[in-house]
Amino acid sequence: MHDFLRDLPKVELHLHIEGSLEPELMFALAQRNGIDLPYATVQEAKNAYLFSNLQEFLALYFQGMNVLRKEEDFYDLAMDYFKRARGEGVVHIDMHFDPQAHLQRGVPLDVVMSGLLKAKQVAAETLDLTIGLIMAFLRDRPAEEALHVLEQAAPYWKMLDAIGLDSAEQNNPPAKFVDLFNRAKQLGLVRVAHAGEEGPAEYINEALDILDVQRIDHGVRCLESDEVVARLRREQIVLTVCPLSNVSLKVVENLRDHPLPKLLAEGLKVTISSDDPAYFGGGMLSNHMACAEAFGWDKSVFRQLTFNAIDEAFVTNDRREELR
Ligand code: HPA
Ligand code: ZN
Repeated sequence: MHDFLRDLPKVELHLHIEGSLEPELMFALAQRNGIDLPYATVQEAKNAYLFSNLQEFLALYFQGMNVLRKEEDFYDLAMDYFKRARGEGVVHIDMHFDPQAHLQRGVPLDVVMSGLLKAKQVAAETLDLTIGLIMAFLRDRPAEEALHVLEQAAPYWKMLDAIGLDSAEQNNPPAKFVDLFNRAKQLGLVRVAHAGEEGPAEYINEALDILDVQRIDHGVRCLESDEVVARLRREQIVLTVCPLSNVSLKVVENLRDHPLPKLLAEGLKVTISSDDPAYFGGGMLSNHMACAEAFGWDKSVFRQLTFNAIDEAFVTNDRREELR
């Protein structure tokens, strides 16, 4: 099963590039930029990656990305993950990035964009790996700030595949961002949002109704509402489920209790992603292997999950045919 899952050409729809920052690279970039880290060693950093909820993770996630200062840091960050993912059989990644988290630290948008866009280009040319770009907005920051950043990003609008919504979900309902998502729609930008990870099933409905999103990131708590499940099935909305993330952030106690088999049994359009692989115990291959072990799925299940992701990925029609 390991070799089959490694060789299966996989498509990842839910990946925060800042969450792919491995401690080894964090140390290298800290040294390059003359930044002190709160950890003495790589092992000490890894030992700190124990979380009891999303908020605890986010604190270390924002702290870790503090080493990203220059264009080449963003390029190195992305290439480091792209190479690793390609080695695990990943052929396409829709990648979230968090501009506000960098602007807040005084890192200009042009620095972030030029580093990531260069990595995207080099990945296509040298790794046969295609990349979709999702500019994500932090839902625990003011809605006006998000709108301002979207306007500021005007030179890059045509390079974006979508906008997204991430960070602390509880008490930050989708409706808070209605103006942002309306503006994105007006600009012809596709929309996605995290919903139903730590927040209630109702947030999934809100994201679909009020933000008019095309896919739901996570969405596992949909099972708390028969009505939401029925809708997701009827409209065949893709859920980007991140099994090891859900275990790390205690959305579920352990993988055997994960609702993935139930989501599939309900006829939902499920896909598997890694979310923040440097923090949650591994990338696409680890997530697939963990599911094989926990749920005993056969090859046909993994093929179906991959078809679901190919259908939804931000790729050209030619590329989609190539992936099928
Ligand atoms: N959930 C919400 N926000 C995030 C996550 C996540 O899993 N990872 C990075 N930002
Ligand atoms: Zn996420």
